[in-house]
Amino acid sequence: MEFIIRPLLKEEAVPYEILLLADPSKAVVDEYIDRGQVSVALVQDEPRGIVVLLHTRPETYEIVNLAVEEQWQGKGLGKALLRYAVQQAKDQGAKTVEIGTGNSSLDQLGFYQREGFRITGIDRDFFVRHYSEPIVENGIPCVDMLRLSKEV
Ligand SMILES: CC(C)(COP(=O)(O)OP(=O)(O)OC[C@H]1O[C@@H](n2cnc3c(N)ncnc32)[C@H](O)[C@@H]1OP(=O)(O)O)[C@@H](O)C(=O)NCCC(=O)NCCS
Repeated sequence: MEFIIRPLLKEEAVPYEILLLADPSKAVVDEYIDRGQVSVALVQDEPRGIVVLLHTRPETYEIVNLAVEEQWQGKGLGKALLRYAVQQAKDQGAKTVEIGTGNSSLDQLGFYQREGFRITGIDRDFFVRHYSEPIVENGIPCVDMLRLSKEV
């Protein structure tokens, strides 16, 4: 399948409907969207996937959002977006790239580990503290954030 990945331009609308697939809180998204580097995967000129990279500490970047529209999942867009953001961080001097995911996001946990990320910690009750609505995935309450990182 053909797609291109490039930075979202200032004049382009922020595709919230895609961002909200990875992060159900618009308030949380708004908190990082202006500070982050936003890139989109375009299929026939339409944004179908997104990744947001944030410079968090010296030599450390975090992927704070990675999402692909449901109908376009499983076709390689997510993996390409993840690799694009890792390369982008590396080009800017990163030594470490971090990503967080819910304890219930079993597919994502597999995917990130296959891409070389390792679990470094658990932010207990992160989702209880930051999200007002309960989140359930794979029949598992999403309460803790697993922190993963990759040396680049
Ligand atoms: C996670 C997500 C970004 C992956 O994007 P994608 O375009 O579907 O992923 P890809 O097609 O590139 O596949 C990536 C890996 O996931 C696996 N995968 C894809 N779809 C899958 C599915 N339905 N079930 C299980 N594994 C799946 C693929 O096998 C691939 O792994 P591998 O090639 O290392 O074996 C996407 O599914 C998504 O947006 N999910 C909802 C939002 C979300 O959870 N974001 C992450 C928040 S932490």
